[in-house]
Amino acid sequence: MAVNPRFVALESKIKNRTARIGIVGLGYVGLPLAVEFAEAGFRVVGIDLDVRKMRAINTGTSYIEDVSTATLKPLVRDGLIRAQSDYSGCGKLDAILIAVPTPLRKTKDPDISYIVAALDAISSQVRAGQLIILESTTYPGTTEEVLRPVLEAGGLKVGRDIFLAFSPERVDPGNKLYQTKNTPKVVGGSTPLCTKIAAQLYGQAIEHVHSVTSTQSAEMIKLLENTFRAVNIGLVNEIALMCEKLGLDVWEVIDGAATKPFGFMRFYPGPGIGGHCIPLDPHYLAWKLKTLNYSARFIELASEINGHMPEVVVRRATAILNDAKKSVRGAKIFVLGVAYKKDTGDTRESPALDVIRLLQDHGAIVSFHDPYSNAIRGEDGRIEKGAALTHRNLAAADLVVIVTDHAIFDYDAIVKGARRVLDTRNATRGVKVGRGKIVKL
Ligand SMILES: NC(=O)c1ccc[n+]([C@@H]2O[C@H](COP(=O)([O-])OP(=O)(O)OC[C@H]3O[C@@H](n4cnc5c(N)ncnc54)[C@H](O)[C@@H]3O)[C@@H](O)[C@H]2O)c1
Repeated sequence: MAVNPRFVALESKIKNRTARIGIVGLGYVGLPLAVEFAEAGFRVVGIDLDVRKMRAINTGTSYIEDVSTATLKPLVRDGLIRAQSDYSGCGKLDAILIAVPTPLRKTKDPDISYIVAALDAISSQVRAGQLIILESTTYPGTTEEVLRPVLEAGGLKVGRDIFLAFSPERVDPGNKLYQTKNTPKVVGGSTPLCTKIAAQLYGQAIEHVHSVTSTQSAEMIKLLENTFRAVNIGLVNEIALMCEKLGLDVWEVIDGAATKPFGFMRFYPGPGIGGHCIPLDPHYLAWKLKTLNYSARFIELASEINGHMPEVVVRRATAILNDAKKSVRGAKIFVLGVAYKKDTGDTRESPALDVIRLLQDHGAIVSFHDPYSNAIRGEDGRIEKGAALTHRNLAAADLVVIVTDHAIFDYDAIVKGARRVLDTRNATRGVKVGRGKIVKL
């Protein structure tokens, strides 16, 4: 096979770490990635339309929990990371990684408008020898069907003049063990040369890179991972509903099943799923399959069960209040935790927001506390502020509902101070005194 001079030139820049890297979208995914490349010695330019984020980065201040300011500051000071809020100078970059949001529309159809906007801005400056990698989670086919035609429109050919790949991000916010650097990275290029060059780039900063044969396969891998979680959480939520009917403790059932050393993996029931990935990504796959006349049944079922859990929480809260001869209307309910995930402040798609809204719809007077997030936005766009976690606020509530099991909470004190507790996460499993006040999901 003839040597591709563009490949050779880029490979050499990657190997001696003079390749200039651009990262579009400096959020939960983009910023940790920028840090890894900068720590590996590359110069990284972050592009984010959010001017506040650009300013924060340029002063070395992190707004992402998994990236400390202490880590970011020296990288900015040494000129290894710089942020800008426009696409100027994009043509000078050697590799451009796109990590912009991929939400769903209200109809649960994919909204790839952020990818398209980033692509439009890049494509006007694309030049021979560049590597473009999409990291945003999306449906299989996006890289080939959406990115490739736009990048090739000016006459450059993917695999010959420019290189194109998809590499799904696997950030698990708050995970102390696995972060960007030591989480294996899957890479699939449009051509074998595209895969090779993208894998080489990641190999400089990430400990293990796993190459696959196509962009579609890499896109599908991410969706399998997230669908696997969504479906298993849906299953265990349904097991929780079955246990309720049978009068069994689902947590004891899960603990018992988990003593099997093979063929079983723990998943936990809860108030519903949240975040940017698990509730949304499987719908990207379901949508794509719908265009091929195929119904993704497991995805639809899991979504239905998981989406119903906030209502289950409200039904259980209603029953607890009923037992105390109280109605939900007028009851004071104190919700602990609004983040979708323990030990983070991320409230995106958080089931806590649904629980609060449903309780308010039923006439409850709801307050909340979350040590990592002291304000939430209501449906009408209004900001609601959190209340302090004081003995007084606990005692004043007719019911305390634990929605997020933050490790920082003192569960003994919460149970001691509360009149009644609905624990949707089994966060109070270690509490010895006052167990009679606790109802578990
Ligand atoms: N957060 C996670 O845990 C996680 C994990 C794996 C994969 N992902 C995927 O990674 C992608 C990014 O997610 P995220 O959580 O980092 O999102 P995020 O919202 O935290 O960050 C995205 C950033 O992109 C910026 N942006 C939006 N449009 C832009 C544009 N046209 N040009 C430049 N910047 C733009 C936004 O201002 C924002 O700062 C999504 O597809 C998501 O599904 C996220």
